[in-house]
Amino acid sequence: MPRSTRKSTSGASTPPSSLSSSPPTKPLYPTISLRSSSPSSSSNNNNNGNTMSTARSSLINVLNRPHHSTPSTSISNTIVTASKLSSIATNSTDFNSSDEDTLYSDQSTAASSYASSIISGTASSLDKSNLTSADIAKIYENYLEKPFVNTKSTIKHSEFGHCNNPNWRWTSQWNTDEPIHPTEEPHPPYFTLLTTYISYILLIVIGHMRDFFGKRFRPAEYAHLMPQNGYAALNSDFDSFYTRRLKQRLEDCFARPVTGVAGRSIVCYDRLSTDENKTFNLTGTTTRALNVSSYNYLGFASSTGGCADAVEACIKKYGVSGAGPRHDASTLDLHTQTENLVARFVGQESAMVVSMGYATNSTTIPALVGKGCLVISDEFNHASIRFGVRLSGASLRSFKHNDMDDLERILRDVISQGQPRTHRPWKKILLIVEGLYSMEGSLLNLPHVLELKRRYKFYIYLDEAHSIGAMGPNGRGVCDYFGVDPREVDILMGTFTKSFGAAGGYIAGSKQVMDRLRIRSHATCYAESISPPLLTQIIASMGSIMGVAPPLATPPALIDDDKSLSGDSVSVRSLRPTVYGPAPSHILPTWMKLPLNLLNGTEGRERLRRLAFNSRYLSSGLRKLGFIVYGHRDSPIIPLLIYNPGKMPWFSQLMLDRLGPDKTPIVVVVVAYPATPLITSRVRFCLSASHTKNDIDLILRACDEVGELLGMKYGKQTMTVEEVISSAEELVSASHAE
Ligand SMILES: Cc1ncc(COP(=O)(O)O)c(C=O)c1O
Repeated sequence: MPRSTRKSTSGASTPPSSLSSSPPTKPLYPTISLRSSSPSSSSNNNNNGNTMSTARSSLINVLNRPHHSTPSTSISNTIVTASKLSSIATNSTDFNSSDEDTLYSDQSTAASSYASSIISGTASSLDKSNLTSADIAKIYENYLEKPFVNTKSTIKHSEFGHCNNPNWRWTSQWNTDEPIHPTEEPHPPYFTLLTTYISYILLIVIGHMRDFFGKRFRPAEYAHLMPQNGYAALNSDFDSFYTRRLKQRLEDCFARPVTGVAGRSIVCYDRLSTDENKTFNLTGTTTRALNVSSYNYLGFASSTGGCADAVEACIKKYGVSGAGPRHDASTLDLHTQTENLVARFVGQESAMVVSMGYATNSTTIPALVGKGCLVISDEFNHASIRFGVRLSGASLRSFKHNDMDDLERILRDVISQGQPRTHRPWKKILLIVEGLYSMEGSLLNLPHVLELKRRYKFYIYLDEAHSIGAMGPNGRGVCDYFGVDPREVDILMGTFTKSFGAAGGYIAGSKQVMDRLRIRSHATCYAESISPPLLTQIIASMGSIMGVAPPLATPPALIDDDKSLSGDSVSVRSLRPTVYGPAPSHILPTWMKLPLNLLNGTEGRERLRRLAFNSRYLSSGLRKLGFIVYGHRDSPIIPLLIYNPGKMPWFSQLMLDRLGPDKTPIVVVVVAYPATPLITSRVRFCLSASHTKNDIDLILRACDEVGELLGMKYGKQTMTVEEVISSAEELVSASHAE
């Protein structure tokens, strides 16, 4: 087992120095290739056969680039020198210097990057051809905190990294050539499966033996597992066994105490256990680490910037609590404004907000279905959905995760058979699915589900907790991603906890259904209303993703994808719905003052495109390095399979105690049973728009080192880490992962 603590000798944010003598096996500084992600450049890579199929998505991405960007330099397989980068950076800063008002343009046009800035900012004093690991450690010193580029951004670099290169952007949009869900997940070698099963068998056998003898020979330590004074044992089932015998050994990976903003970086309290993880003591030191463990997809959970300023203004005006449920005297004007904005954002007629995402599902589902109704649920649906279904009293059928054939088979069966015993038709059939599955990184096959709906006539309830704000060219979730009209889905649910950096959830649908839910849902009658600062954060972040239309603006025209890309054989749905227009200014509170870059939507769009690039880059890069990675490449959650339980704490600890010279610690989340099937334990990288390309390079290098050490490359490695880093743009624009 790895050490259950890490020590920071010089206080917060100091990279660990205990392994500084490790040989500099990695390149001395990040290699940067300023390649175009246009089809012509992608034809140079080893995905020649896919050039045509990637052409459309590449074209969309090229067309979507900011018009004022400097032309990308196509220097294939060239490591751009530090001096060249610094001159590019200087030129582009000059280019923007006249535009004082537009914060966004300053960030999007500079052809420099944070990575290049590190080199140009620090390497000048060093002989780059002869760097020692101490030099590299110096380059990365305070990497997470020190902004190396001049920027007008008000957001702290440690919370939101500056990444100016316009080539490192992508548009999250369905490419019909890319499979939505693979027919078969990749399998590890039999040896890995065998050793994983043996690990669990040993754990179970030895654990039960220890329990058996412990209860007899050390009864004081096992008192809580045995009946006492006529009372039953408090906790003696399998969950208790699993928690004591497995989870406790991994305990240092979970519930890590942290402080500050869960942004690009996060500050962890260092801790130490002397009793095999039963308890932890804080050592009094902290470590700032690169954070890939929070759902802060767009980086809006921030302590500075336009949203935080708006929240501060709100607290001065409204205080911090509505102090009651909606049906009492706690429906503020902010609630109505938020609901109008949410309805507009998701493209539905009406919406209702609830103070907790979990409660949104668990209180809405019982208000929609009951006895005599049938819920058909994906087997991997979130606990809040399963809880809501159980409360509702409706019958339940589960189908295999994302398996459309299995879903159709069940639909045929339940429609032909009707209710059990009586065979009466079901009162309602409600299909409950998620847009993006957070443990699997898999996307719902929405076009197929809608086809089935048209054929079999059932209602759809779509939970977009992880896809809203994170997927689609406009950030409006999976409907936007696939280019389908959101009104084809009966009920849209989502949470504000992730992309919007707030808390709570929403339900959206037709006005008729929403009016009924407002009366029937326990959330509106019995739960506290969302607090004003949270509502402000939701309005500000959502408004900046949408952009706010100036008063009396003419409505936007339909966006005709196929027309704008005429001649291209690949057909994404034409005529994206107008519902994805900007927010009308009258919906926002009059006192809310947002900076121009948020108001005009440029910042929101930029964040969406940064997130899309980061997601595809890391997902493709890890696959090329030989890891088994689940999920869709556009998913901002990337599960990397670990399998062996013994490797989980090691992976988590080694990522934090980095081995190589670029010692920036990385905080990751490992997940295991019961959140996943027993043997497919994994680490989930949660990416954010706040991460820079250099951050993703760092993660790839770290995974390469640690994965090699722990023997976690279960697949076929087709590229070295340096090749992956230098061909980031080709990997992102390629239509196939392998
Ligand atoms: C699919 C899904 N639905 C609902 C929720 C509950 O949301 P919240 O954490 O905001 O309560 C989650 C939480 O992660 C989720 O993943």
